[in-house]
Amino acid sequence: MEKEEKYRTLLAQAESLLAGEPDGIARMANLAALLHREMGFWWTGFYRVCDNELVLGPFQGPVACTRIARGRGVCGTSWQRAETVVVPDVEEFPGHIACSSESRSEIVVPLLRDGTVTAVLDIDSRELATFDETDRCWLERIAALV
Ligand code: SME
Repeated sequence: MEKEEKYRTLLAQAESLLAGEPDGIARMANLAALLHREMGFWWTGFYRVCDNELVLGPFQGPVACTRIARGRGVCGTSWQRAETVVVPDVEEFPGHIACSSESRSEIVVPLLRDGTVTAVLDIDSRELATFDETDRCWLERIAALV
Protein backbone atom coordinates (compact mmCIF):
# COMPACT_ATOMS: atom_id res chain seq x y z
CA MET A 1 0.00 0.00 0.00
CA GLU A 2 1.26 3.50 -0.82
CA LYS A 3 2.25 5.68 2.12
CA GLU A 4 -0.52 8.19 1.34
CA GLU A 5 -3.14 5.44 1.33
CA LYS A 6 -1.81 3.98 4.58
CA TYR A 7 -2.11 7.39 6.24
CA ARG A 8 -5.65 7.91 4.87
CA THR A 9 -6.76 4.58 6.36
CA LEU A 10 -4.92 5.33 9.58
CA LEU A 11 -6.58 8.74 10.01
CA ALA A 12 -10.02 7.13 9.76
CA GLN A 13 -8.99 4.39 12.22
CA ALA A 14 -7.61 6.98 14.63
CA GLU A 15 -10.80 9.04 14.51
CA SER A 16 -12.95 6.07 15.48
CA LEU A 17 -10.40 4.79 18.03
CA LEU A 18 -10.33 8.13 19.87
CA ALA A 19 -14.03 8.92 19.61
CA GLY A 20 -15.63 9.38 23.02
CA GLU A 21 -12.35 9.31 24.99
CA PRO A 22 -11.75 12.68 26.66
CA ASP A 23 -8.47 11.84 28.44
CA GLY A 24 -5.44 13.23 26.62
CA ILE A 25 -2.98 10.60 27.89
CA ALA A 26 -5.27 7.75 26.83
CA ARG A 27 -5.66 9.37 23.41
CA MET A 28 -1.87 9.75 23.03
CA ALA A 29 -1.28 6.14 24.17
CA ASN A 30 -3.60 4.59 21.61
CA LEU A 31 -2.49 6.94 18.85
CA ALA A 32 1.18 6.06 19.47
CA ALA A 33 0.35 2.33 19.36
CA LEU A 34 -1.72 2.67 16.18
CA LEU A 35 0.90 4.73 14.33
CA HIS A 36 3.77 2.53 15.46
CA ARG A 37 2.13 -0.73 14.46
CA GLU A 38 0.54 0.36 11.20
CA MET A 39 3.48 2.38 9.87
CA GLY A 40 6.31 0.22 11.23
CA PHE A 41 8.28 3.09 12.77
CA TRP A 42 11.26 2.49 15.10
CA TRP A 43 10.10 4.82 17.89
CA THR A 44 6.76 6.61 18.11
CA GLY A 45 5.71 8.74 21.04
CA PHE A 46 4.79 11.97 22.71
CA TYR A 47 6.61 14.45 24.91
CA ARG A 48 4.31 16.77 26.89
CA VAL A 49 5.12 20.32 27.94
CA CYS A 50 5.23 20.23 31.76
CA ASP A 51 6.67 23.09 33.84
CA ASN A 52 8.56 24.54 30.89
CA GLU A 53 10.26 21.35 29.73
CA LEU A 54 9.27 18.37 27.62
CA VAL A 55 8.50 15.25 29.64
CA LEU A 56 8.21 11.78 28.11
CA GLY A 57 4.63 10.67 27.54
CA PRO A 58 3.00 7.60 26.00
CA PHE A 59 5.26 5.88 23.47
CA GLN A 60 6.08 2.65 21.65
CA GLY A 61 9.64 1.47 21.08
CA PRO A 62 12.90 1.37 23.04
CA VAL A 63 13.34 3.32 26.29
CA ALA A 64 13.98 7.03 25.73
CA CYS A 65 15.27 10.12 27.52
CA THR A 66 12.63 11.50 29.87
CA ARG A 67 13.18 15.29 29.81
CA ILE A 68 14.15 17.72 27.04
CA ALA A 69 14.70 21.48 27.44
CA ARG A 70 13.09 24.05 25.13
CA GLY A 71 15.28 24.59 22.07
CA ARG A 72 17.27 21.38 22.64
CA GLY A 73 17.36 18.51 20.17
CA VAL A 74 14.78 18.03 17.45
CA CYS A 75 11.89 17.91 19.93
CA GLY A 76 12.89 21.08 21.76
CA THR A 77 13.44 22.85 18.43
CA SER A 78 9.97 21.89 17.17
CA TRP A 79 8.51 23.19 20.44
CA GLN A 80 10.44 26.47 20.23
CA ARG A 81 9.52 27.08 16.58
CA ALA A 82 5.97 25.73 17.00
CA GLU A 83 6.38 23.93 13.70
CA THR A 84 7.12 20.50 12.32
CA VAL A 85 10.81 19.61 11.96
CA VAL A 86 11.84 16.94 9.43
CA VAL A 87 15.37 15.57 9.83
CA PRO A 88 16.58 13.34 6.95
CA ASP A 89 19.86 12.50 8.74
CA VAL A 90 20.04 12.94 12.52
CA GLU A 91 23.84 13.18 12.39
CA GLU A 92 23.47 16.39 10.38
CA PHE A 93 21.15 18.03 12.93
CA PRO A 94 23.16 20.11 15.43
CA GLY A 95 22.24 19.16 18.99
CA HIS A 96 20.27 16.06 18.05
CA ILE A 97 19.62 13.99 21.20
CA ALA A 98 20.43 10.34 20.50
CA CYS A 99 18.08 8.30 22.68
CA SER A 100 18.86 5.31 20.47
CA SER A 101 22.00 4.90 18.40
CA GLU A 102 19.85 3.14 15.79
CA SER A 103 17.80 6.21 14.88
CA ARG A 104 18.81 7.65 11.52
CA SER A 105 16.00 10.05 10.59
CA GLU A 106 13.25 11.76 12.52
CA ILE A 107 10.12 13.91 12.37
CA VAL A 108 8.68 15.97 15.22
CA VAL A 109 5.20 17.49 15.00
CA PRO A 110 3.98 19.99 17.59
CA LEU A 111 0.50 19.75 19.13
CA LEU A 112 -1.00 23.22 19.46
CA ARG A 113 -3.85 24.55 21.54
CA ASP A 114 -4.79 28.20 21.01
CA GLY A 115 -1.40 28.80 19.38
CA THR A 116 0.56 27.28 22.28
CA VAL A 117 2.53 24.03 22.01
CA THR A 118 1.22 21.54 24.58
CA ALA A 119 3.15 18.46 23.40
CA VAL A 120 5.09 17.07 20.47
CA LEU A 121 4.73 13.85 18.50
CA ASP A 122 8.20 12.40 17.85
CA ILE A 123 8.83 9.60 15.35
CA ASP A 124 12.18 7.95 14.62
CA SER A 125 13.24 5.68 11.79
CA ARG A 126 16.20 3.33 11.47
CA GLU A 127 16.56 4.44 7.86
CA LEU A 128 17.84 7.72 6.41
CA ALA A 129 15.37 10.20 4.88
CA THR A 130 12.22 8.28 5.85
CA PHE A 131 10.05 11.37 6.28
CA ASP A 132 8.91 13.83 3.62
CA GLU A 133 6.09 16.28 2.89
CA THR A 134 3.54 13.46 2.76
CA ASP A 135 4.46 12.40 6.31
CA ARG A 136 4.43 16.00 7.52
CA CYS A 137 1.01 16.68 6.07
CA TRP A 138 -0.67 13.51 7.37
CA LEU A 139 1.07 13.43 10.74
CA GLU A 140 0.01 17.02 11.42
CA ARG A 141 -3.60 15.99 10.76
CA ILE A 142 -3.27 12.87 12.91
CA ALA A 143 -1.49 14.67 15.78
CA ALA A 144 -4.25 17.30 15.81
CA LEU A 145 -6.70 14.56 16.88
CA VAL A 146 -5.14 14.45 20.36
N1 SME B 1 15.97 12.59 19.13
C1 SME B 1 15.11 13.42 19.93
C2 SME B 1 15.04 12.92 21.36
C3 SME B 1 13.92 11.99 21.62
S1 SME B 1 14.18 10.43 21.05
O1 SME B 1 14.39 10.44 19.60
C4 SME B 1 12.90 9.42 21.43
C5 SME B 1 15.60 14.86 19.88
O2 SME B 1 16.68 15.14 19.35
O3 SME B 1 14.90 15.72 20.41
